[in-house]
Amino acid sequence: MRVRTAVFPVAGWGTRFLPATKAVPKELLPVLDRPAIQYAMEEAIAAGIERIVLVTSDGKRAIEDHFDAAPDLEAFLEARGDIERLRVVRAVSDMVNLVTVRQKEQLGLGHAVLMARDAVGHESFAVVLPDDLIVSERPALSELIDAHEETHGSVVAVMEIPREDSIRYGVVEIDPDLPATDGGRTIPLRGLIEKPAPADAPSNLGIVGRYVLTPKIFEKLERTAHGVGNEIQLTDAIQALAAEQPIVGRRFSGRRFDVGSPEGWLAANIDLALDHPHYGGPLRTWLNARLTER
Ligand code: G1P
Repeated sequence: MRVRTAVFPVAGWGTRFLPATKAVPKELLPVLDRPAIQYAMEEAIAAGIERIVLVTSDGKRAIEDHFDAAPDLEAFLEARGDIERLRVVRAVSDMVNLVTVRQKEQLGLGHAVLMARDAVGHESFAVVLPDDLIVSERPALSELIDAHEETHGSVVAVMEIPREDSIRYGVVEIDPDLPATDGGRTIPLRGLIEKPAPADAPSNLGIVGRYVLTPKIFEKLERTAHGVGNEIQLTDAIQALAAEQPIVGRRFSGRRFDVGSPEGWLAANIDLALDHPHYGGPLRTWLNARLTER
């Protein structure tokens, strides 16, 4: 069956971005000209996703408002004859069919995904972490969906990370007995471990926030004990699933930014602006002048 549902966990506090995220959900901080989460939403839709399950918490209602109709704003823009902006505003609310589920306690990413169980039903589904913004020609999630269709197993996005960064990622263990396919981009895995110390990292491939999971993951999540950070970790449930079903890592193409951190957010803004038809030229001129000044 086609992958048509994506779960977007958006219940986290955004502590790395305080005080900016005291009253504004981190997912709505703008990257260039739109909220961070909109990039991940556009990627999912371009990959063929038709239903989004938002797993939210208290204080995140503005995310739903962003993807909802805005009759007063639309009437105002229409009366002013600002058709271009009216089109932009309407395109966001027409984008996708949203379902919202509340995560009442912040027990971790695995727990957030478990909250989406009834909304997802008994079918394979995607998980998209909007903190990971991926700039690429082809939606990264499409690559994972293709790998899922080939292997019928679960898929996690992976990229090379510096060894000392292993404490910030889930890290995969490659299965040496099975061949990688798709020119080495789809890699059979033996296991996964959440945020290992560099000495314990089983490879240099870190997990990025795109997954395609079979519904069996929910049974595993129900039985997953608290792990690293005393949280119920999605990585631990996928590790349990690996004993029964194939799991592959997919190296995706494109550049990934962690927009949940100020430095990643800043890099994403600059990266996107450099290629932008309006902002690119002036930004280059200003950057060059500023760098020669130093
Ligand atoms: C989560 C996952 C981790 C993954 C990371 C990617 O961690 O638990 O396995 O590598 O996202 O962004 P978090 O960043 O929420 O701590």
